[in-house]
Parts: sequence; C-alpha cells; structure tokens
Amino acid sequence: MKFFVDTADTAEIQELEATGLLDGVTTNPSLIAKSGKNFKDVIAEICKITNGDVSAEVAATDFDTMIKEAHVLRAIADNVVVKLPLTFDGLKACKQLTSEGTKTNVTLCFSANQALLAAKAGATYISPFIGRLDDINLDGMELIREIRVIYDNYGFDTEILAASIRTPNHVKDSAIIGADVVTVPPATLKSLIKHPLTDKGLDAFLSDWAKTGQSIL
Ligand code: E4P
Repeated sequence: MKFFVDTADTAEIQELEATGLLDGVTTNPSLIAKSGKNFKDVIAEICKITNGDVSAEVAATDFDTMIKEAHVLRAIADNVVVKLPLTFDGLKACKQLTSEGTKTNVTLCFSANQALLAAKAGATYISPFIGRLDDINLDGMELIREIRVIYDNYGFDTEILAASIRTPNHVKDSAIIGADVVTVPPATLKSLIKHPLTDKGLDAFLSDWAKTGQSIL
C-alpha cells in the first residue's frame, strides 16, 4: 500500500520524505488556503521535494476551464496529478486528460456508483472520503470495501486512494480491505509508529545496556 501525505505544508512534507516512507502528496483548495502560499508556487515546491505523485486540484467546475487549468497544472512538473471533482464535467475532463496521458485523481467520492463512473472515465486514482462519511454516521470503510469488490470484479486499473483519513484505524482497515493508497494528515501518519510497549521496551533495553558498560563502536 502506498502512503501519501495530505497537506500543503512543505516543512511537514520534507520531514516525512526524509523517512523514505512517503510515496506522494495530496492537496486540496482548503489545504492550499491553509498554507497561505501561492497555489502554483507551493505545488512546484512540493514537486521538488518528492518524486511521487502530487495531486493538485482544479478550481473550475466547467469542462473547458477545467481542461485549461489542468494543462497549466500539469506543466508545473512531471509528477503533478490533476485532481478533478466527481461531477459529469469532472469525469468528462478525466476522460480527456487520461487520453492525453495526464494522471488524474477524481475526488469527493462518497458512493460506489460514483467510483464506478470514475473508473469508466479512466481515472488514475479515485478518492473516497472515509472521515466525512463517518462524520454523518455512515460507514466510510464500507465504501472502500464496496469499491474494492467492484474494481476487482471488472479488473479496473483505477487505484483506490482512501482519503479523509482521521485515525490510525482508518489506515489499518484500508490496508486490510486492500486500498491501493492512503492519504493521511501528517500528525496521523506520524502517530502510526507509536506504541507504549515499544517506548517502555526500548527504555528498559537502553538502561540494561548502560549497565554493561559496553560500546558497539
Ligand atoms: C483528499 O484528497 C482530501 O484532501 C482529504 O483527504 C480530505 O480530508 P478531510 O475530510 O479531513 O478534509
């Protein structure tokens, strides 16, 4: 399973990239606004930090303008993936961009039928939003399960990019179900490594090692 980080904070991306565990980055207009930076500049900056796929979302809602914006975005760097909303214009743009060889990420997916349409439009990635479904008392993880079955039934190449991840359990369950990618906020991504018994065990080993008076180097 690939790990993407869901942020436009370049310092966070740099720190996670240094671990060698990062496979890409997703952004959205809200994350860009939070960064306080110019959209195209920050995407260019992120694409220099990582060779992985970097999703940059169009702001237009009509097909013609989406295509124009997509051409601007993909010219920023080879690893830009154009993110498109799950609307008919978005899917039409997805089909067109796919035929031009541009990678796409169809976002704001909340149903299996929407995911089916995105796969038919040739999307590189589909982004089902788990957390936002959980927020309204629906089962976000069930959506990932349904999409996995549908994509496997028909051999669609579209990768399931589990998004709107809020907890470490969302990551674990996505992996168990077989999502291809998870995109995770930096703090949640860092928290995956935490276990109190690891900390306790390491403290004990270090204290016992000190008692030996030895040194490996
Ligand atoms: C995915 O591409 C989105 O940027 C993101 O995962 C949305 O997450 P949120 O629901 O926590 O805003």
